[in-house]
Amino acid sequence: MSNNAVTEKWWKEAVVYQIYPRSFKDSNGDGIGDLKGVIEKLDYLKDLGINVIWICPIFKSPQDDNGYDISDYQDIHAEFGSMDDFNELLKQVHARGMKLILDLVINHTSDEHPWFLESRSSKHNSKRDWYIWRDEKNGQEPNNWESIFAGPAWKLDPETNQYFMHIFSAKQPDLNWENKDMRKAVYDMVRWWLDKGIDGFRIDAISHAKKMPGLPDLPNPKGLKYVPSYPMHMNVDGVLDYVGELCEETFAKYDVMTVGEANGVNSAKAEDWVSEKKKRLNMIIQFEHTKLWDSLGEEKFNLAELKEIFSNWQKNLHGIGWNALFVENHDITRIVSRWGDPEKFRRESATSIAAMYFLMQGSPFIYQGQEIGMTNTEFNGPDDFQDVFAKNHFAIRRSEGATDTQITKEIAHTSRDNARTPMQWNADKNAGFSSGTPWLKVNPNYQQINVETESKDPQSILNFYKNLIRLRRENKIFIYGSFDLVLQDHLDVFAYSRKLGSQEALVICNLKGKNTTVSIKVKPEMKQILANYQQASQITANSIELKPFECVVYLQV
Ligand code: NOJ
Repeated sequence: MSNNAVTEKWWKEAVVYQIYPRSFKDSNGDGIGDLKGVIEKLDYLKDLGINVIWICPIFKSPQDDNGYDISDYQDIHAEFGSMDDFNELLKQVHARGMKLILDLVINHTSDEHPWFLESRSSKHNSKRDWYIWRDEKNGQEPNNWESIFAGPAWKLDPETNQYFMHIFSAKQPDLNWENKDMRKAVYDMVRWWLDKGIDGFRIDAISHAKKMPGLPDLPNPKGLKYVPSYPMHMNVDGVLDYVGELCEETFAKYDVMTVGEANGVNSAKAEDWVSEKKKRLNMIIQFEHTKLWDSLGEEKFNLAELKEIFSNWQKNLHGIGWNALFVENHDITRIVSRWGDPEKFRRESATSIAAMYFLMQGSPFIYQGQEIGMTNTEFNGPDDFQDVFAKNHFAIRRSEGATDTQITKEIAHTSRDNARTPMQWNADKNAGFSSGTPWLKVNPNYQQINVETESKDPQSILNFYKNLIRLRRENKIFIYGSFDLVLQDHLDVFAYSRKLGSQEALVICNLKGKNTTVSIKVKPEMKQILANYQQASQITANSIELKPFECVVYLQV
């Protein structure tokens, strides 16, 4: 750990709210959320207290992966609105003193992007090398890599009888980052948006930009048709050269916030990505803690590992770089369903988990609906899924003879669609999301769980988030203070202290649905300033008895 002082920056003081535009608010009744819908809800976001909005891709797209397949980086997808709507959104966000960051998807484009259309047109086209093309090998794909979205990572294009690489869906061909002209075209596009006055980017899948030289086959001891291929394209040596150049050519010239999505980067390697001295990215979205819940959906919440992962990130980056703090996004299941208890202790578990991640050092991200404790949904069959991974999985498993009931069961607990159900605004039709038929079924629990109900209840999850945000804004210790894990070996409780100058704070969160006792001392001048039970437990005689999922925060005042 470094003792360097932590420098102050606006983006370190950010609380980011992530919008998945398709599911946030539909203004025109077509069942799909849109930019005018976002504008309608800006006062809600301002009132929540957040100061930065990250909006997932809104660009022109065939929507194979809900906008992560872009066919024109400089136009708005018609279902979401127009460039005029975007300009209005940016203006309205800024008028409320908030900032707006966009999603930058540059590991791949859509197969309908003009660059790809040109590239596929002939082996001699000047953009041929902007994507990754190879000949077949022994009548098969050029190598045995599996795509992240199931099936092969290659598709044969009859136009020139060569395969192109796609590590995500077949409609998301990977750009070839080795090609200088391609990189230059990307940088021009990035600068165009920055010149428009946006406040930064979340950079999609950037740790996948570099592929293993030679694109070798993977060892295949199990005799699989295609082998999970992460080591061949995730955080491969050399990827930081691309990240460095991207930053130097674009972001470095502006005062913006940059958040890289960096699967495969652990806390020991994080410094290379976010060290302030290296002038690359401000922070990265890491995946270490999201993997603590396995892909079969079996409850395997491991508190000891969670503590180790978070405290390593805190320690390794203190005074060096910055953390992006999150427990939900559009790719993972709802946190109360994953680590909490959505039936018996929904409010308590949502709020205890919230305090746990939110008050560490870093910029907290809130994914839409997390602030009201939205839960995973029900899937009754294939038609209830919209995600491209689910669709591929159904096709593959059906061809293997599995029934739809079996397949539904296999993916219901982990499907990304759990997080993508429409935002629950009120108890009216379609949860107030749309007057039409929503593109994805509304979670049937919307009559109990919605913004309107929660805003009236002082004890609600929504009001707890407001308090957390205010607390962080009013006390710099929760932003810049150092972090130390306390009660390291406690089996139920995640607790830590923050220190800034001579001030100290203590965050104690029971993450289990049962009572538990903690031996802990606090200085007499420390006062309880936040709790998630009305009758909150107090530290007396050097110990505290916590109720299920109870959290308490102390601050030296
Ligand atoms: C990560 C995004 O978060 C996810 O939604 C998307 O499917 C992949 N990258 C591909 O762009």
